[in-house]
Amino acid sequence: MDRIYLYNLPGHLFLGLVLIRSKSRCSKKKTPKLVTIKESRRFMIDCFKALNVPDKHAVAQADLLVGADYRGHFSHGMNRLEMYINDLAINSTDGCAEPEILKETKATAWVDGHNGLGAVVGNFCMDLAIKKAKDVGVGWVCAKGSNHYGMACWYVLRAMEHGLVGMSMTNTSPLMAPTGAKEAALGTNPISLGAPAANCDSFLLDMATTAVAVGKIEIQRRKGAPLPDGWAQGPDGKVTNDAELAFNTACLMPLGGSELNAGYKGFGLGAMVDILTGVMSGAKYSTQVRKWTHTGADIKADLGNVFIAVDPNCFAPDFEERMSDFNCRLRGVQPTDPKKPVMIAGDKETKNMENVDKAGGLEYLENQLKTCEELAKRLKIKPMKFI
Ligand SMILES: NC(=O)c1ccc[n+]([C@@H]2O[C@H](COP(=O)([O-])OP(=O)(O)OC[C@H]3O[C@@H](n4cnc5c(N)ncnc54)[C@H](O)[C@@H]3O)[C@@H](O)[C@H]2O)c1
Repeated sequence: MDRIYLYNLPGHLFLGLVLIRSKSRCSKKKTPKLVTIKESRRFMIDCFKALNVPDKHAVAQADLLVGADYRGHFSHGMNRLEMYINDLAINSTDGCAEPEILKETKATAWVDGHNGLGAVVGNFCMDLAIKKAKDVGVGWVCAKGSNHYGMACWYVLRAMEHGLVGMSMTNTSPLMAPTGAKEAALGTNPISLGAPAANCDSFLLDMATTAVAVGKIEIQRRKGAPLPDGWAQGPDGKVTNDAELAFNTACLMPLGGSELNAGYKGFGLGAMVDILTGVMSGAKYSTQVRKWTHTGADIKADLGNVFIAVDPNCFAPDFEERMSDFNCRLRGVQPTDPKKPVMIAGDKETKNMENVDKAGGLEYLENQLKTCEELAKRLKIKPMKFI
C-alpha cells in the first residue's frame, strides 16, 4: 500500500512529502477518511470567500490546490491553504487584484500581477500566451507582482489542452545555496514543460531545481537517520549528513548536490529560472525575495513568473505522433528491475490520479484534517465532510 506522509515545518516555506511503500505488512489497516474532490474544492472555495476573495478568484485558487492533491503533490495542495489564508488575512496578498498588461507585442506580454493570488495571475498570463501562440506561433508572458503560484505544471496543462507545448517557471523564497556558498541565494525555483502526444498521452515534466524538499530532511531527522550526501549543507557550507544540523541551517543543495556531482548544473538551472522570472519581469529576485512562513509574511512577495506557449505545428509535421513514438521509446527501454517499468515525466502523477479515482476520494493526513477543522472554526465556514 502507498502512504503519503507530510510534515509542516514551522518557520519554513516547505511542506515535505515522502512516499513510503510498504507491502501488505499493515494487516491492522485503519479505514482511511476520504474526502471527495468536490468537497475538498468546496471547502477551499469557502475558505477563500470567507476572506472576501471574489468567487472567480476563489475557484481558480481552489482548483489549483485540489489539482495538486489529485496529482499526488500534497505539499502543494490543501497543505498550502493555511499559508495563503494567512497572507490574505494580513493583506500581504490582495485576493481581489486583477492582473494588468503593461507592455505587449504580438508574441510577448509584460504583466503586473498587482499582488494577486498566484493562480489568478498564472491563469491570466498563460491564457494570454495561448492566445498569442495561436495567432503567431509563440506566446511568452512575464509577470511581476505575483504570489506563490503552486505547482508549475498547472499552467502548462492549460496550454496542452490547446495542443500547444507549454512551459512555466517561477522564482521563490531563497533556500538553495549556490555551489560553493554558505548561504541560500535562490529558491526552489520550479520548471515545468509539457508536450501533448497522440491518444491523450503526454510528457509533463514538473520539478524543483533543488535536490530535495526540506520535508525529506525533516523525515530523516525524525527517524534519527543520516542524510545522503548532496541534500543539504551545514552552516560551514559543507555537505552535511546530520539531519538535525541540516534542518536548522535550511540551506538546500541544488539538483545534483555537490560540485563533484555536478550540482552546479542544478544551481545553473535555478539561476536560469530566476533570470527568466524575477530579473526579466522586474520582480524581486535572488536574496531580494522575502521569506515565507506559516504565519504569513508582512511584506508583499513580488514574485516573478514566466509562461510560454508554442504551437508545434509551426515546425515539423505530426508532432503529437512523434511525441507518442518518443514516449514509447523511453518507456519501452529495458528496466533494471523487471517489476518496475521505466516511467517518463508525468506518469507518476497519472498513476496517482487513477488511485484517487479508484479510492473515490483524497486521503488527507490527520494533521491536515485538524488544520482544516481549525480553519473552518476560525473562518466560520462549514467543516469538511468525509465520505
Ligand atoms: N511554486 C513553487 O514555489 C514551487 C517550488 C518548488 C516546487 N514546486 C512544485 O512542487 C511539485 C513537486 O516538485 P518536485 O521537484 O518535488 O517533483 P518530483 O521530484 O516529485 O517530480 C519531478 C518530476 O519527475 C518526474 N518523476 C518522478 N519520479 C520519476 C521516475 N521514477 N521516473 C521518471 N520521472 C519521474 C515527475 O513526473 C515530475 O515531472 C511540483 O509541482 C513543483 O512545481 C512549486
